[in-house]
Amino acid sequence: MRDKQLKLDLEHTYRMLSDEERARLCGKSILITGCAGFLGFYFMHFFSHFRKELDLKNVICLDNFMLGRPDWMERFSDDKLFIIKKFDIIKDKIEDIQEAAGTNHIIHMASIASPTFYRKYPIETLDANIWGLRNLLDFYSSKKVDGFMFFSSSEIYGDPVPEAVPTSEEYNGNVSATGPRACYDESKRFGETMCMLFAEKYGMPIAVVRPFNNYGPGMRLDDKRVPADFMKNVVEGKDIVILSSGSPTRTFCYIADSVAGYLKALVHGKYDYFNIGIESPEISIMELAQIYKEAGKEVFGYKGAVRYESSKDPQYLAHNPQRRCPNIKKAREVIGYDPSISVREGVIRFMRYVKDTLQ
Ligand SMILES: NC(=O)c1ccc[n+]([C@@H]2O[C@H](COP(=O)([O-])OP(=O)(O)OC[C@H]3O[C@@H](n4cnc5c(N)ncnc54)[C@H](O)[C@@H]3O)[C@@H](O)[C@H]2O)c1
Repeated sequence: MRDKQLKLDLEHTYRMLSDEERARLCGKSILITGCAGFLGFYFMHFFSHFRKELDLKNVICLDNFMLGRPDWMERFSDDKLFIIKKFDIIKDKIEDIQEAAGTNHIIHMASIASPTFYRKYPIETLDANIWGLRNLLDFYSSKKVDGFMFFSSSEIYGDPVPEAVPTSEEYNGNVSATGPRACYDESKRFGETMCMLFAEKYGMPIAVVRPFNNYGPGMRLDDKRVPADFMKNVVEGKDIVILSSGSPTRTFCYIADSVAGYLKALVHGKYDYFNIGIESPEISIMELAQIYKEAGKEVFGYKGAVRYESSKDPQYLAHNPQRRCPNIKKAREVIGYDPSISVREGVIRFMRYVKDTLQ
């Protein structure tokens, strides 16, 4: 593999899985929706890299490529393990994909995750999380599957009240039904309700995962999420630009950790819902910018500064949560998820990966 850092990351993810969890993927067929996105990139590389160890039958990869078909997908186009189709989960028929009926594990990720882009496509975002999910649940409710995973979001908690941070799965949220983020937050919430009802009625082994701010290889630098924006600034040798007051806080979970959490949830085999992120450190956007600046100096010899600007998008900060920090006790106890990559280390890894791809 050309990307040295990516290989190290994939191996980290693999080591986080137990023998039993790996065995539950062995010989299986996996269907992924939203394969062309950030997390899709990592899943596809993971399954490609460990194809022998996992003896995978096939990986069916579906995406409508609404933000374009990324160049990296070319490396999978002649690969027999992957069945890649342009497919819109809202209106295309899953029955038309011949191999879909025999799939063992389903990973439903189709839905734009970047606030800038989901506000540009609000109805499409809502539909992917509601009708897209419903189409898959209807299709698979009569089939015997080993795992069905719905990607919800930490955004279902909205802007949590201070006493609900760190936020556990039992917090009901503080979400606007009509705000600029509602298309995303509320459709994820409704999606979770559908998962609960289908699990109850059909006994489906549905895992609902709530990712908290992932970043790392696969994230497009023009994606408009903060870790991508800062990386773009560093790579272009420009100043790191903060578009808020810099004071909202987050924990940032590196993808090599989080994908292990998702895979553990997928093979868990029963209905449940999990926060997947990292508990600490909870840092401000200003502190994150400083971390990028220092890592940039180390990896690229970066000489830029950190400065503030206002976004041209008047809704950029509307309903932006002040704090986002998960309690992951449940995922630790139930599925043995134990993330370890600090944000300082993760940003360095992400930068090394970007450097590998530029060489
Ligand atoms: N990355 C994170 O930190 C994070 C945080 C919270 C939730 N999530 C959720 O995880 C999932 C994956 O996130 P990501 O960061 O890879 O997102 P992304 O925006 O990078 O990728 C989403 C992909 O879904 C595809 N898609 C959208 N609508 C579709 C449709 N109707 N039919 C087929 N494909 C469609 C897009 O073309 C895109 O390739 C999403 O559901 C997102 O909401 C991610």
